[in-house]
Amino acid sequence: MRTYREEATLDPVDRPTWVDGVDNPYLHGPYTPVISEITAVDLRVTAGEIPADLSGAYMRNGPNPVLEPKGQYHWFDGDGMVHAVYFRDGRASYIRRWVRTQALRDELEQGRVTLSGIMGPFDLQRGNEGARGTNPDYVKDTGNTTLVWHNGRVLAQWYNAGRTYALDPLTLDTVADETFGGAVDGTLNAHAKCDPRTGELIDYDYGDFKSYLTYYVVGADGKLKHKTRVDLPGPRLPHDTTITPQYTILHDFPLYHDVDVLRRTGHRVVEFHREVPSRFGVIPRYGTQEQIKWFEFEPGYVLHMVNAWEEGDWITMDGCFQPDPTIRRDPSEGALGSMLAYLRYRGHLRRWRMNMRTGEKHEQQLDDANVEFCLPDIQLYGVKARYSYHQRVPTDMQTLVFDALVKYDHESGSREVYEYPKGWYGNETPFAKSTRGGAEDRGYAVTVATHAKDYKSEAWIYDAQRISKGPIARVALPGRVPIGFHAQWIPGHRLWR
Ligand SMILES: [Fe+2]
Repeated sequence: MRTYREEATLDPVDRPTWVDGVDNPYLHGPYTPVISEITAVDLRVTAGEIPADLSGAYMRNGPNPVLEPKGQYHWFDGDGMVHAVYFRDGRASYIRRWVRTQALRDELEQGRVTLSGIMGPFDLQRGNEGARGTNPDYVKDTGNTTLVWHNGRVLAQWYNAGRTYALDPLTLDTVADETFGGAVDGTLNAHAKCDPRTGELIDYDYGDFKSYLTYYVVGADGKLKHKTRVDLPGPRLPHDTTITPQYTILHDFPLYHDVDVLRRTGHRVVEFHREVPSRFGVIPRYGTQEQIKWFEFEPGYVLHMVNAWEEGDWITMDGCFQPDPTIRRDPSEGALGSMLAYLRYRGHLRRWRMNMRTGEKHEQQLDDANVEFCLPDIQLYGVKARYSYHQRVPTDMQTLVFDALVKYDHESGSREVYEYPKGWYGNETPFAKSTRGGAEDRGYAVTVATHAKDYKSEAWIYDAQRISKGPIARVALPGRVPIGFHAQWIPGHRLWR
């Protein structure tokens, strides 16, 4: 199995000193946290030109721990840091800032980390079994996973259902611990969806001890519009959702933990129950659980969906499906084995179809490429989109990295691939529509990439209609961007007002 160490023998100099004492590949090489925030204008364009019709910001969230973690570090545990590259009038600027979460504020005050990360062990007495909100009372909640535009701000959210933090989109300052006027008193799942037509925010909460979800719709003005409870057969670990104009599609996958084991050991031991079907619950946007239609499909797991849309009585949904999410430890990896195994992805693009009138259903594998971190033009969330942009995950690496950008054409069934040059590691790559409008893919795919040897980072801009040609412009960033999680494109007409 390859490791990034084959390319990166030394860690970057701008690292916290404590990482040197922690044996964990997600703290070294291209994952090494940085130690500072940066604001920089008029970045140097090293190849090509920044297109004049590219206006807006590429923003990416990711883990960047400040202090030495308590217990075994998992990649999902690092304090959230947002990297933003702003493009306007053919010029670029860059900001990176930590998300000032409650956990980080407390730690900086105390000078040490007091909460375990997701590998545990959890001090369950602190959490009252998630009676208030969900997990963060006993798990460190880092705001490091996703970003979503809503009500004039960027919201940062965390993988394991956490508090939502509102960021100023131009400074990345954390401006609020967002509770939507007190309507959300606990936590929300990462991957809230903002409906591009209505501006509504759709999300849910779940918990380690709760046999239900709490489903929320928040209006474009930040006020709660709908909240309801959705019962499940037991506590589950959903990660994403999809929306259509009328419906929200909720997840119930057979990859979950045993509550008794958690109570007894303080560890969440997740197992794949291969005899239990995957289920999707289709709920009307303002519906109740009596109105949900559940559809059963092949057992497996999905971290990320691409999109969903309605055609007559049918709902169609595409996503990155893992047919066998069993966590297989490699004994040679010792104590890190479970964490490393959990982050090894084997999946493919799949389509599910559900008939809301007859209950008919179909599922179909669309491709065999090992792809994840999948995005359509998110202005087309909920309606049929022809294209989507994915990251390819190599299967022979010790850690999770991306080695290519893959664009799917769902009309022709074809795909286009750009393999990153040797030594470069990529990130999620959202679509940025040209300010001149045009065909669905008239615009740019935008990302940041980091080189494993000298750790220089660049913003890359692709012509979305020709991604296989590679970036048409490369912009040198004034600081290193550790490999991270989800990115979003914020169009300029929302930012510059
Ligand atoms: Fe995610």
